[in-house]
Amino acid sequence: MTVTRSVVLGCGSYLPARTVTNAELAAKVETSDEWIVQRTGIRERHIAADGELTSDLALKAAQAALADAKVDAQSIDLIVLATSTPDQTFPATAVTVQAALGIHHGAAFDLQAVCSGFVFAMTTADALLRSGNHKRALVIGAETFSRILDWEDRTTCVLFGDGAGAVVLEAQAQPGTRDDRGVLTTHLRSDGRYKDKLYVDGGPSSTMTVGHLRMEGREVFKHAVAMVTDVIEDAFKATGYGANDVQWFVPHQANKRIIDGSAHKLGITPDKVVITVDRHGNTSAASIPLALDTARKDGRIKSGDLVLLEAMGGGFTWGSVLLRW
Ligand code: UT7
Repeated sequence: MTVTRSVVLGCGSYLPARTVTNAELAAKVETSDEWIVQRTGIRERHIAADGELTSDLALKAAQAALADAKVDAQSIDLIVLATSTPDQTFPATAVTVQAALGIHHGAAFDLQAVCSGFVFAMTTADALLRSGNHKRALVIGAETFSRILDWEDRTTCVLFGDGAGAVVLEAQAQPGTRDDRGVLTTHLRSDGRYKDKLYVDGGPSSTMTVGHLRMEGREVFKHAVAMVTDVIEDAFKATGYGANDVQWFVPHQANKRIIDGSAHKLGITPDKVVITVDRHGNTSAASIPLALDTARKDGRIKSGDLVLLEAMGGGFTWGSVLLRW
């Protein structure tokens, strides 16, 4: 018996040209390179240029992913773009990318699950591909968090960065075993009781402004490891795989301490963990595809590798995706 699986054909990413070091931030707010590195692992982040929009970053990542997959944009019939920093309140940033790619068919929409956005987008695209209604998808995570930061608030402005990453997924018939290529299992969660722990203090319906990011960092930190390990245990239960079977652990990149804590609790050794938070900061929905592309391009992730994705963020939202590259 064969089943339909969503198989990764290629990936790509894009980072704005400008990097901002911790030392540069320390000249503006009361912080230090030492504090930021010790508490988060972040050394620098990329910041979009004036006039450089989320759709611009997303388009470049999408084009890179299409080139890596060696497929034409016209073969794409689904674009799911995860972002909390869209160009406009509406239309979706995904349709701007769709138009820029010259695609006039299929469907394109945005999805908002903050830092868990890419995991939610992969899960959504996987379900639509397996439904048989779509054949080839671009799944994009793209953010310009620099636009919603309060640059005078040292507790948040040092943590985030801008960037975009994308993968091309294709519906393929596979034997239907856990050795298949493609997405093997996905697990999503949210719990709105925590919505005030990490939020933006504006919006079209409430303040008619964009607002700034606010976070009770310690509260988020407290829940992160438990939530993340929970959905990974679910992925292991669903497939019978365990920590030793995973070739690459590609977590959301918010804080190196959260990543190390989760990997340690799960028994995933440090040599299998992909870390980009040191150079990218927290790029929210873009962090996982940026990390995937980094590890693919430097030769770590190879065809056939078992790759574990996880994320946790505002809402709270959290989730995992286990796939074979
Ligand atoms: O993407 C998913 C969502 N986000 C996250 O996952 C982030 C989760 N949270 C975190 O990563 C951490 O909680 C932070 C990195 C945000 C903060 O680290 P922490 O170890 O939890 O520090 P803290 O908030 O407990 O603050 C410790 C101290 C405080 O001073 P007092 O009260 O001890 O005197 C802060 O005011 O550090 C101070 N502080 C800073 N000092 C220098 C806070 N921000 C800074 C800063 N520079 N940038």
